[in-house]
Amino acid sequence: MDAREMKIKAAAVALDYVEDGMRLGIGTGSTAEEFVRLLAEKVAAGLRVQGVPTSERTARLCLDLGIPLKSLDELPELDLTIDGADEVDASLRLIKGGGGALLREKIVACASSRMIVIADETKVVGTLGAFKLPIEVNPFGLTATRIAVEKLAARLGLSGGIAVRSSDDGPFMTDGGHLILDASFGRIPDADALSCELNAIPGVVEHGLFINIASLAIIAGPAGARVMTK
Ligand code: A5P
Repeated sequence: MDAREMKIKAAAVALDYVEDGMRLGIGTGSTAEEFVRLLAEKVAAGLRVQGVPTSERTARLCLDLGIPLKSLDELPELDLTIDGADEVDASLRLIKGGGGALLREKIVACASSRMIVIADETKVVGTLGAFKLPIEVNPFGLTATRIAVEKLAARLGLSGGIAVRSSDDGPFMTDGGHLILDASFGRIPDADALSCELNAIPGVVEHGLFINIASLAIIAGPAGARVMTK
């Protein structure tokens, strides 16, 4: 099974958790997009769902494939969100935001009764942090916010560079008009403490640590998919 096949496998298993009539948060990224494609086939066959997308990119794909969408303001309470992740640990703590959609992803997941993660087995880690932690920041006072994050990291014993994410057109801008700092910590031994302390920095809009949000992960490997729970 190649990487794409594993993503499709995880997405296919996730589809079993989707029930007729559900209000569904729909994630962002290549794994979530496989889920969208499979969901669209079910919708074409008569499944009724209302989706709330976690990014403009996901919204465009859903609309192209005929999945009915609502805004989160129209549907502020959701039954289930299905989304990918950049890292998953044994407690179902996640790093998300590799695609830059972490703020909307977290808002949508937290508005849902349940969040299910879909990923291939390369995303499962013992300790979070090998993947660069995305930190979404307000453009105002970028340097001050970056210094505050660096001081916090030093206080928590974390080292590694913190870089402003760029794109072909200059600094990467999120759907919300914010910037992203990618923190190369390598290892985050106390993700709970880092999460709380990042939230206390005023210029930090949100960060990619998802803690106590996902309740189940569907992890696909060459031999098939397995379910992880806390
Ligand atoms: C998007 O911002 C991310 O949180 C994605 O969910 C995450 O990067 C996983 O993406 P892939 O499924 O493409 O690896």
